[in-house]
Amino acid sequence: MARSKRILGLADLCKGYDTVLDIGTDHGLVLRTAFEKGYIRHAIASDLREQPLKSAQKNLKDYPAQCVISDGFLAIESQFDLVMIAGMGAYLISDILEHAPIGQYDLILQPNDKVHVLRSYLMENQWKITDEWVIHDHFYYVIIKATRGKMNLSDDDILVGPILKTKPEAQDFYKHKLKLIEKIMKTSDETKLQELKRLHQAYNHVIIC
Ligand SMILES: C[S@@+](CC[C@H](N)C(=O)[O-])C[C@H]1O[C@@H](n2cnc3c(N)ncnc32)[C@H](O)[C@@H]1O
Repeated sequence: MARSKRILGLADLCKGYDTVLDIGTDHGLVLRTAFEKGYIRHAIASDLREQPLKSAQKNLKDYPAQCVISDGFLAIESQFDLVMIAGMGAYLISDILEHAPIGQYDLILQPNDKVHVLRSYLMENQWKITDEWVIHDHFYYVIIKATRGKMNLSDDDILVGPILKTKPEAQDFYKHKLKLIEKIMKTSDETKLQELKRLHQAYNHVIIC
């Protein structure tokens, strides 16, 4: 069972839930890992495309998982208590959440980019961030847990993460981001430079020297 740290981390976050809906499941490996570890009882593996879903079907054949072709939530009819949306861009995740049905469930979201766009979306659409993590697996991956509710994030918290900033293990991530920003700043035009300076300032604030 050789799995990436990212997949293992996402599977760990399924622990204690009954039915996990994995939107954009692709290979279904997060769900399979969660089943193998005995963390979940049922799953709905869904994907927009047939080919990935076939691969999920193969990987999940020994477990109680339904495989459903669906654009986000649109064709999902069964109940779930956790929704996983991982490995996609923040804008796509936000688009998918536009059709999130009313109900009692948590979200685990792992955007591949622009985490601040997703935090902003969650705040504006009555979702509340309840935890955040960062996993280093060749790249840094930020993971957000959210539930229905209200939150008021400052501009800085949207950029750095209201909970992530309190985690000692996120310090390396922030330092990495600062270095990256400093590098890009050298070749940026004035508009981009202003945006990067803002980001630089926010990350700088949360770094403990
Ligand atoms: C990069 S894979 C991520 C796989 C897995 N979630 C992970 O984190 O390892 C993205 C998957 O999302 C699927 N996808 C993209 N847009 C989607 C949508 N609107 N609804 C459902 N699945 C979608 C793609 O077909 C692809 O299989």
